[in-house]
Amino acid sequence: MEKLYEGKAKIIYATDDSEILTTQFKDDLTAFNSLKKGMAQGKGAINCHISSVLFKLLESKDIATHFIDQIADCEMRVRAVKIIPLEVVIRNIAAGSLCRQTGLIEGKILPFPLVEFYLKNDELGDPLLTRDRLLILELASPKQLEQLQSIALKINKCLTEFFASCQITLVDFKLEFGLDSQGNLLLADEISPDTCRLWDQQTKNLRDRVLDKDRFRHDLGEVETAYQQVQQRILEKLGIRQRP
Ligand code: TMP
Ligand code: ASP
Repeated sequence: MEKLYEGKAKIIYATDDSEILTTQFKDDLTAFNSLKKGMAQGKGAINCHISSVLFKLLESKDIATHFIDQIADCEMRVRAVKIIPLEVVIRNIAAGSLCRQTGLIEGKILPFPLVEFYLKNDELGDPLLTRDRLLILELASPKQLEQLQSIALKINKCLTEFFASCQITLVDFKLEFGLDSQGNLLLADEISPDTCRLWDQQTKNLRDRVLDKDRFRHDLGEVETAYQQVQQRILEKLGIRQRP
């Protein structure tokens, strides 16, 4: 099938139905706008499976996603959408760029979930947008912006509760949205340890608790083991068998 797009962690292929695409998850890892590159054997399959399970969970809570089904270890079928070039980041606890840019101490519980919009543009380094910059760039209408904000908060509530039931704290995460051919707003991309900060509630050790891509970003090692741990806890919680 024709390759439509290759990103840092996924490849998108056309199918014989123009409304349906295939997403292939790669083992490649990148950080700091690709300054750092690596790979983790089996990461693609783990992220594909975690994303599939989480998209299904969100669908069950009436959140519209692009997910159709998982068709292979590293492949899912998705509805074709035009991606809105925004990275919607939701934060519950201070970490990462929020600490670097504001001086907040890592680990501070935020008084309310913070929803932020970043421009999805590698050349510009994905800058943080203000609401007015976003409107001036015509990345979304005021109505769509309200919709994005409220869906993001609903997703945050659902995922925070779910991860907590797996003894994992959802610190922050990034979402992407797209519009299908009828103009419906769908959650797209992926939700995985590549795109979330996840802290293990079963350990207090600051290094050991990290179960996400920060292990790669900050050379903490055992990236695959951490991702497997997330996958295993999610599957156990939902009573799903590991894909053979
Ligand atoms: P940040 O603290 O580096 O801004 O990241 C916030 C969240 O967004 C964190 O969970 C990691 C995720 N993220 C991505 O998924 N892709 C990115 O390109 C960046 C910068 C962050
Ligand atoms: N996804 C970005 C990159 O690949 C940044 C990050 O996740 O740290 O460079």
